[in-house]
Amino acid sequence: MLKGFASDRGNLMPILQKVQERHNYLASSALEMVARHLSISACEVYGVATFYNQFRFHPPGKHQIKVCLGTACHVKGGDIILENFERKLEIKAGETTKDREFSIDRVACVGCCALAPVAIVDDTVHGHMAPSKVEGLILGFAIEEERKKREIQQGESKGQ
Ligand code: FES
Repeated sequence: MLKGFASDRGNLMPILQKVQERHNYLASSALEMVARHLSISACEVYGVATFYNQFRFHPPGKHQIKVCLGTACHVKGGDIILENFERKLEIKAGETTKDREFSIDRVACVGCCALAPVAIVDDTVHGHMAPSKVEGLILGFAIEEERKKREIQQGESKGQ
């Protein structure tokens, strides 16, 4: 992919955007390759990448949770919603759970301020979020996971 870009530091942002588009995150090995290609230090590449919150540095989880912290959502307690997701999943915004099931990201206004505070879970908008809804969403995923496990176990026992 890097062959499509001249070795010019002005290409740093387009390259980072391309890497993230392809891999959904910026791995440290990718940042080092970009640095070598542009003949700049990996520290500089990392510094630029971390300046912009459009980039993520962990692979996204199977379920992606985005909590809006735009002005309307912030005023209505978006940060409390974010804290609840973080506490429940034991990760911080920008991170992914060890089992790669969930990742949490903070996002700017997603355009439905009337529903503030808003969270987007796997592309579904959840408005008027409350701590109890956070609990319910995570519990819903756990129940669904358990249901799938049982279906597999039943399928295996029928196959015997
Ligand atoms: S500020 Fe959250 S949807 Fe607009």
